[in-house]
Amino acid sequence: MKTPFYYYNTALLKQTLNTIIKESGTYNNFFVHYAVKANANPTILQIIQESGIGVDCVSGGEIQASLNAGFVPEKIVFAGVGKTDYEIELGLDKNILCFNVESQPELEVINALAGKRNKVANICFRVNPNVDAHTHDNIATGKQENKFGIPARDLLRVIQCANNMSNIKFKGLHFHIGSQILDMIDFRHLCSRINELVSELKLNGINIDIINVGGGLGIDYNKPENNPIPNFKDYFNIFATYLNQEEHQEIHFELGRSVVGQCGQLITKVTYVKETGQKRFAIVDAGMTDLIRPALYHAHHEIRNLTNSKTPYYIYDVVGPICESSDVFDTDVSLPEIHRGDYLAILSAGAYGEIMASQYNCRTLPQGYVGEGKLDLAQIL
Ligand code: LLP
Repeated sequence: MKTPFYYYNTALLKQTLNTIIKESGTYNNFFVHYAVKANANPTILQIIQESGIGVDCVSGGEIQASLNAGFVPEKIVFAGVGKTDYEIELGLDKNILCFNVESQPELEVINALAGKRNKVANICFRVNPNVDAHTHDNIATGKQENKFGIPARDLLRVIQCANNMSNIKFKGLHFHIGSQILDMIDFRHLCSRINELVSELKLNGINIDIINVGGGLGIDYNKPENNPIPNFKDYFNIFATYLNQEEHQEIHFELGRSVVGQCGQLITKVTYVKETGQKRFAIVDAGMTDLIRPALYHAHHEIRNLTNSKTPYYIYDVVGPICESSDVFDTDVSLPEIHRGDYLAILSAGAYGEIMASQYNCRTLPQGYVGEGKLDLAQIL
């Protein structure tokens, strides 16, 4: 099999999905959507669809990929700051569950396009709650300075405006404070902020049917083998405990990384080992074009030598072939001696890996393969 490639363990994915369904099912009116942006590999989408959860899309392409995988429109929510007319029309034509609207101009366009079709579009407003998610700046979304959502001070005005539109049905509020959040306190803060906003609106006679809290639950990139399934029990419990949910209110979740992150690995072959006096480099055939997270967010992914597990260990910088200094998977990592031709696995790469791959340097995109269980190199090569 041509390296580099992604390998997905579908047994782990299914176990993760079962845990999500079990833990969210403990509570009334909790609905989970998978954030397609994390991984849209057709087999992965298919398995997620079969589990029964819904999807959260941020483009027409993602809506189409979800429909192709068999997701029913009533389980599709659609977010994004820059929905184009074509994308809105697709959502309207397919009768998706809800548009998560991020501005007044977008609201007007949805109303007009729905009017042309004699339809009524369900909408939630995405609110910028100004809650700090204590994560990498590039993946924090809920602070005042981020481009996402509508400032809380404008909320009442836009809701009143929506309520006066004949082709819009206002359903509730949508939030998303950021990604790779490990400290549950950030979700508690989000709950308090939501409670404040919902009760303020209630005082103004506005009823909320849907509270969509977004995604963001992180995974253990440092010890993936010890923690293959994130702590969904504590996660859902935070919202059940701290959100003042009324009986009729639905709570929606949009989980991406925590669903697929740990089930994927990037498999790469060592092209050269190069010693420079100061450093020992393992130069592999995967690059930042295949997995951009270390270059873009200084993200850490554990690396394993699949070919050799014996001592001695040496200290390596594991780097790709791309003509960019940031094309580095990890520095000063201790690994069993690496030789040309060895296979390395870059772990926890199921989310924002394959889907963010590019063709920079005229490279081919990595393929994704699935197997029901841990990777057996002998079977794959
Ligand atoms: N909902 C909305 C509105 C979002 O913007 C996102 C992610 C999610 C849900 C899913 O969040 P998750 O559960 O996966 O944290 N490429 C970056 C992550 C970008 C996340 C963008 N939004 C990375 O590789 O870390």
